[in-house]
Amino acid sequence: MGGVTHLIVFLSMFSAITLMSEAQYLLAVTKDEPSRQYYTTVYIGSAAMTSPVNLLIDLGTNLTWLNCRKIKSLSTLGLVTCKSSTCKSIPGNGCDRNTCLYRQPRPLGKNTVVTTGRVVQDNATIFTTEGGQPVHIAPSRRFTFSCAVDKYLQGMAPPIAGVLALSPGEFPFWRQMTSAFNVIPKFSLCLPSSRYGYFFMGTPSLGGKKTVPMTSTTLKIDSGKYLISVRSIYVDGVPLTLDPSLLEGGAQLSTVVPFTVLQTDIYNALAQGRLRIEIGMFEFPVSTAPFHYCFEQGASGRNMDVSVMEIGLPGNGKEVKWRFHCKNTVERVLETLICLAFVDGGKKPNESMVIGTHQLQDYLVEFDLSTTQMALCDPLILHNTNCST
Ligand SMILES: *[C@@H]1O[C@H](CO)[C@@H](O)[C@H](O)[C@H]1NC(C)=O
Ligand SMILES: *[C@@H]1O[C@H](CO)[C@@H](O)[C@H](O)[C@H]1NC(C)=O
Ligand SMILES: *[C@@H]1O[C@H](CO)[C@@H](O)[C@H](O)[C@H]1NC(C)=O
Repeated sequence: MGGVTHLIVFLSMFSAITLMSEAQYLLAVTKDEPSRQYYTTVYIGSAAMTSPVNLLIDLGTNLTWLNCRKIKSLSTLGLVTCKSSTCKSIPGNGCDRNTCLYRQPRPLGKNTVVTTGRVVQDNATIFTTEGGQPVHIAPSRRFTFSCAVDKYLQGMAPPIAGVLALSPGEFPFWRQMTSAFNVIPKFSLCLPSSRYGYFFMGTPSLGGKKTVPMTSTTLKIDSGKYLISVRSIYVDGVPLTLDPSLLEGGAQLSTVVPFTVLQTDIYNALAQGRLRIEIGMFEFPVSTAPFHYCFEQGASGRNMDVSVMEIGLPGNGKEVKWRFHCKNTVERVLETLICLAFVDGGKKPNESMVIGTHQLQDYLVEFDLSTTQMALCDPLILHNTNCST
């Protein structure tokens, strides 16, 4: 089965999208259900001989790395030399004889052994929708990444063979592609709660979903991370009483953390203080790792009623609110057990808030590096749609 067949299978998946007029580049996002990991497929090699490679989507990685054994044709693969300007601008670079090396941090944590891999270039193929034409294959472009071996993929779901770099740095995938295609340096994610979602580069368009209102806030870029400022956290419109220093560092955005991690005091204020989850007659909290607040659904069959949680962000001259839908606030762990879908990060975590994928899913989140703004849509669920294709 050649590369072209894979590309056509991909295109048919998106045939239902209503097309808009602005140039944009598109990849599918897949949710691996058991692991809750999100990945996309990059087609590596010349268009006639592409190898699809599934890569974990990571906002914190500076250079894509992958198991290069997945690349079937080596005709367009080349090594990057130490003296090249490409090598010099890669953070964490090194040199072995004349081959550029990259230190590959592991986004899934735990294993602290950092490995190095050779930096290489190959062509990558992505898709475009333009001028109302059906999605088609864009001409392939040179793409710089590094090679890792199989055993460094520990902790990743079986279909995944590497990490797609989406950091704010100089060599993430989105920056290489927007620069190669000469489009505005921005990308957007619509993480699905199930099946397939979207990853756009350039201006996003989701057909009918484009009419959903978007709000913007300033992105703060710090040590290769994306952060947003948080002014307050509201439950049913009332701000939580928190030591203001807890919110000073802002909230980091992550596509590898499954549930938002909160510093202990923030977590307790949310869980013990105000947030109501009413689902039945028995509301004694029980604990099921990694959650502390879970509720057994009573026999009454009453509909679930969950407080509205919002975070207040600095907008254009006024505060804007990011409203989490009930589905982003709780998680059904068992048939009758519903948990507050946030995790206690301890008293002194590096970041007092890390917003994870359960809270990001079913929003279109745009990272605009031309203005250093993040734009966020209303919960799509309130508009009777979602991120799934
Ligand atoms: C690889 O990408 C470059 C542009 O970056 C292009 O000029 C070249 O034709 C591509 N090669 C193949 C085999 O597709
Ligand atoms: C990414 O690069 C930045 C510098 O540009 C650095 O501060 C950060 O630690 C790097 N991230 C990782 C995960 O290596
Ligand atoms: C906190 O940051 C330090 C230094 O960057 C790192 O070694 C450590 O693993 C981080 N801890 C957590 C819980 O992420």
